[in-house]
Amino acid sequence: MSAPPRPVRLLFVCLGNICRSPTAEGVMRSIVAEHGLQDTIELDSAGTGSWHVGSAPDRRARAAAAGRGIELAGTARQVEHADFERFDLILAMDSSNLSDLRALAPAGQRGKVRLLREFDPAAGGELDVPDPYYGAAGGFEEVFDLVQAACAGLLAEIRAGRLP
Ligand code: 4NP
Repeated sequence: MSAPPRPVRLLFVCLGNICRSPTAEGVMRSIVAEHGLQDTIELDSAGTGSWHVGSAPDRRARAAAAGRGIELAGTARQVEHADFERFDLILAMDSSNLSDLRALAPAGQRGKVRLLREFDPAAGGELDVPDPYYGAAGGFEEVFDLVQAACAGLLAEIRAGRLP
């Protein structure tokens, strides 16, 4: 009998780990649960910055997610070196997060760092999830929509065996 395949481990990363990446983690958790894949896909999120370490997700992000029936959980943490070994795929919310992560990553692990929106088949040339922190409330709804489309595409790629 062959050993069960080990879970695919995904880490979502933004700047503060209180708005975009907890939203992505919560959305992906919900999609994974819908497909009964909780034992196959493990999820976490982190920030490149340390300002909000220990904080709950931003109340505006929680409100936008709650409006779509998704509860955001967890407390913010900063990306650490071990993450590059531990996770199979590290999904950056924007190009600034991507370059910060690639600079932190050991040379052999840089290929694991990708932009989340690369997995949205409908994303045109714009692949950033815009930072909503200092913007209008509608920014959080937009984040949710962009993240949801990308997470659906990401799951489709994993199920098709094309990732990680
Ligand atoms: P996030 O949003 O990276 O999506 O969690 C931000 C949260 C906090 C700050 C910036 C962006 N900040 O400057 O404190």
